[in-house]
Amino acid sequence: MPSLLKCIDCGREYALDDRVTACHACGGLLDVAHDLDALRPAISRELFDRRLASWNPLDRSGVWRYRELVRPGVSAAQAVTRGEGNTTLYTAGPKLASYAGVARLQLKHEGENPTGSFKDRGMTGGVTQARVVGARSVICASTGNTSASMASYAAIAGLQALVFFPAGYVALGKVAQSLAYGATSVQVEGDFDDTLALVRRACDELPIYLLNSINPFRLEGQKTIVIELLHQRGWRVPDWIVVPGGNLGNSAAFGKALHELHALGLIDRLPRLAIVQAEGANPLYRSYLDGWQVRHTVRAETLATAIRIGNPANYPKAVRALRWTDGVVTEVSDQAILDAKAQIDAAGIGCEPASAATVAGIRRLVDEGTIGPGDDVVAVLTGHLLKDPDAVMKYHAGALPGLESTFANAMRTIKPSLDEVAALLDLRV
Ligand code: F0G
Repeated sequence: MPSLLKCIDCGREYALDDRVTACHACGGLLDVAHDLDALRPAISRELFDRRLASWNPLDRSGVWRYRELVRPGVSAAQAVTRGEGNTTLYTAGPKLASYAGVARLQLKHEGENPTGSFKDRGMTGGVTQARVVGARSVICASTGNTSASMASYAAIAGLQALVFFPAGYVALGKVAQSLAYGATSVQVEGDFDDTLALVRRACDELPIYLLNSINPFRLEGQKTIVIELLHQRGWRVPDWIVVPGGNLGNSAAFGKALHELHALGLIDRLPRLAIVQAEGANPLYRSYLDGWQVRHTVRAETLATAIRIGNPANYPKAVRALRWTDGVVTEVSDQAILDAKAQIDAAGIGCEPASAATVAGIRRLVDEGTIGPGDDVVAVLTGHLLKDPDAVMKYHAGALPGLESTFANAMRTIKPSLDEVAALLDLRV
């Protein structure tokens, strides 16, 4: 049986090349459902290894290398790819690992994607599908990274890109990318949740194709973060995979990836998923504490603007992912996020604030005894350091109201004198 689209609530099915992005019958989220029994003989660890030595553009992409698990049957002519993925899996040095509180910490840096965030993995899937269904215009609501990515991939595919931002809450690097890549860029007087609701209404009424992570082809691409990191580890499963949670697309995608890899026999056990939210944008954490009795929403507020989301669209799929992986949810303060970020940055790796919620979350979960100090932990860094230069400059200048710049590295000014240069050498000892 070929892959198809299937509603996770009512089970209604649609053909893979249907333009639908949410169930027509009940409004539920759709999965790209693969026939795992049919796929099992077609894929193997050796197949993925072989592709690492190939120059075929599909094999070079860290998404399409795993195409049987993303969109089976995709052709090189159809795929809109920038060679995304292939991101580094760093091993944290002793200083960063001890800050996090674990001896074994790896960081999968999705900020190394072409537009500087993990969104490129989803967008190559989504924009390829936009082409398959014959869309002319694509749209997203975004806290900045989805829009940067969509603007780039739409430009490559020759589609009109419409990006909608929550006014005043998008980091500088991201707005710059959207304008530069030629997207029609709009600020909406509201927050991300208002903006996404508007965009969804627009897609119901107008001939525009939705590329938020409600679109199941986005999530199929994002699954490859986990697939690639396991491939990089020789399919050795860590104890924990830790990810920031905003609209919960990654959380949903990671759960599906792990469930499928396990069912296919590519991994022999499941890691536990830990989702970390900002304290001021913590609806999933609240529902987790309530034992999933209530689907909470909040008016979100956090300096980590990428995850400033109060009504995450992928909530049901994230809950499913947590059930599949015996996962946990935690929350961290903006202070903890920015201090963890300063540590990741000073380790020479660097990331944007939302990404640093992972390390702050690990620290908290170790403190609470949920993660053991001897556990093998992989954190996913979702965005590049330069996405939010304002946050960096203000932190190091001690200019963030109400927050301590615990690890500030302030700019110094000297006279053009050798003595003053010599004096600098003593600063680090
Ligand atoms: N980290 C970064 C850097 C992000 O940009 C986002 C989401 C997340 C984490 C959260 O991921 O939504 O899958 O839980 N950014 C979206 C955007 C909302 O519009 O760029 P999620």
